[in-house]
Amino acid sequence: MLSGNVISVISGKGGVGKSTVSANLAVSLSKMGKEVALIDFDIYGSSIPSMMNISHGPKSMNNRIIPVESHGVKVMSMGFIVKNNDPVVWRGPMLGKVINQFINDVIWGDLDYVIIDMPPGTGDVAMDVNRLIPNSQQILVTTPHPTSSHVAERAGKMAHNNNHKFVGIVENMSYFQPPDHNQKYYIFGKGGSEQLASKLGTELIARLPIIAPNEKDFEPSIYKKGNLLHDKYMELADRLDSSIA
Ligand SMILES: Nc1ncnc2c1ncn2[C@@H]1O[C@H](COP(=O)(O)OP(=O)(O)OP(=O)(O)O)[C@@H](O)[C@H]1O
Ligand SMILES: [Mg+2]
Repeated sequence: MLSGNVISVISGKGGVGKSTVSANLAVSLSKMGKEVALIDFDIYGSSIPSMMNISHGPKSMNNRIIPVESHGVKVMSMGFIVKNNDPVVWRGPMLGKVINQFINDVIWGDLDYVIIDMPPGTGDVAMDVNRLIPNSQQILVTTPHPTSSHVAERAGKMAHNNNHKFVGIVENMSYFQPPDHNQKYYIFGKGGSEQLASKLGTELIARLPIIAPNEKDFEPSIYKKGNLLHDKYMELADRLDSSIA
């Protein structure tokens, strides 16, 4: 069974940074000394194993699954059950079974936080997760682009209709600031996330800049000390922890 505070990272739209936010938030919470699980339910576009630099699947013991550990975080991913990066065509009931298994048949131990990387949209997975983990809270990720916040609103409304609590909105790719410059460039626009937050009755809890990946880093999606995004994610983890406590 899953213990602890369950936080689903949702968006509606693809490619806005859900997986990046999920992975970095999980790692930051673990750095704060928390026991953290990271579950990747993105069956069609699973990216957590590669972001977390995990190259092997989980082991099992007495018919139960031992999650894979990386950066102090216990990880389970839909990617572990998909062989050779083959595309998957699964129907709803099968997906539901796997989701159930990840929740109930994994040896999670005592957890403070469970971060769930959700697939984009409001489809089968979102419905199953909402049903199986009714007490989960949501972080909504969007970019400032009006199309992104418009689609995020739909996912947010679905969460609302299911009586899920919002932790808040994370605006990713908010702006670009060239190194050694004070000027911020709002490439995808500005202000849409505040409007979305007030529409959904929640708060904007982080504004994360666009930062080009360090190509020399073998794990470029997990931000290290010295990267502004590392500090931003530590702030976000701290804010989340205080608001939940
Ligand atoms: N703040 C950022 N600055 C620069 N690049 C970023 C930032 N956040 C995310 N990215 C990059 O944007 C791409 C999309 O991010 P990510 O995979 O986390 O999005 P997603 O919402 O999980 O996508 P999908 O819907 O496909 O699951 C990735 O290549 C990621 O490295
Ligand atoms: Mg993703």
